[in-house]
Amino acid sequence: MLLAFRIAARSRGFSTAGTVNGFTEAVGNTPLIYLKGLSEKTGSKIYGKAEFQNPGGSVKDRAALGVVCNAEEKGLIKPGGTVVEGTAGNTGIGLAHVCRAKGYNCVIYMPDTQSQEKIDLLRMLGADVRPVPAVAYDNPKNYNHQARDYAKTLENAIWTDQFDNTANAHAHYVSTGPEIWEQTQGDLDAFICATGTGGTLAGVGRYLKEKSGGKTQIWLADPPGSVLTSYVNSGGKLVERSGSSITEGIGQGRITNNLGLFVNELSGAFTVPDEKSIAMVYELLHTEGLYIGASTALNVVAAFELAQKLGKGSKVATILCDGAYRYQSRLFSRKWLKAKGLEDAIPVHLKKYAVLD
Ligand SMILES: Cc1ncc(COP(=O)(O)O)c(C=O)c1O
Repeated sequence: MLLAFRIAARSRGFSTAGTVNGFTEAVGNTPLIYLKGLSEKTGSKIYGKAEFQNPGGSVKDRAALGVVCNAEEKGLIKPGGTVVEGTAGNTGIGLAHVCRAKGYNCVIYMPDTQSQEKIDLLRMLGADVRPVPAVAYDNPKNYNHQARDYAKTLENAIWTDQFDNTANAHAHYVSTGPEIWEQTQGDLDAFICATGTGGTLAGVGRYLKEKSGGKTQIWLADPPGSVLTSYVNSGGKLVERSGSSITEGIGQGRITNNLGLFVNELSGAFTVPDEKSIAMVYELLHTEGLYIGASTALNVVAAFELAQKLGKGSKVATILCDGAYRYQSRLFSRKWLKAKGLEDAIPVHLKKYAVLD
């Protein structure tokens, strides 16, 4: 019976051989999914890197592991120490897992605007979660500054500083980028994704651009309320942040150190309105069977539009950052969608998926 399962699994492309050593070695090596329905609509090939398959459930497992390993290598933290971070969610979840796996304490400061699912999960993972009012970065009470200041008060503790610690982008440069390159056999016209810290875009972007000798274009996708599209398209003018988005974990009001590593090498940037992102959450569920969060949906809209721009036959990859599980009380709630003015963004034939009140 077991043998039959193994043979069946192998014939479907599953690997049954080999093991990995614990949580940390299970991070990465995610599939690159060919998005059939969208590809056929454009006559291009659109791929999504299934980062929701990381053991902590998101693309941020890679960054979390990267910043902790980097601190260990530099001798900044010793066994039994404490990891402190300011995070809107997924980095905290990745860090909480990594800390449990490595025996560190984990303290997370986060804006109190984040979904209850994410806060609950962090607490279940043993993190000490400290929701604080969502104030701008230049306010000393901003969650990042509070995390930094708290870490300074402790012995044997680090502030992992995901936004400006370039060990974050480096984690993607040595893992996500090479994986995408191998999975596409180096035949990729463009890569596009939205940024929070900028780690994914800068790390993957740098690797693909270097490896392809500049052939693979790297683009930035942005939610409303972020300043990055105008920064890139104006050749480096930083405007005041205004507006907001229902997406979580992406959008920025400044050029972080991670993004700064690569921002001048981008081929372009554009903004995706929430209406298109929310419709794509439902579209991906209906046509591809993928249950994904809003930042992923935004990435896929952007990959779809970039593929159309680059023309038939183009090959474009993006990141499927996390699943919808962390946001379902919002994304699939008719009441919430109505309150956000997004009910009508969902095509009539897909409204059946909005099953929550
Ligand atoms: C859901 C989600 N998508 C995308 C991102 C952006 O990734 P990065 O910080 O590498 O720019 C994040 C970051 O926290 C996230 O939580």
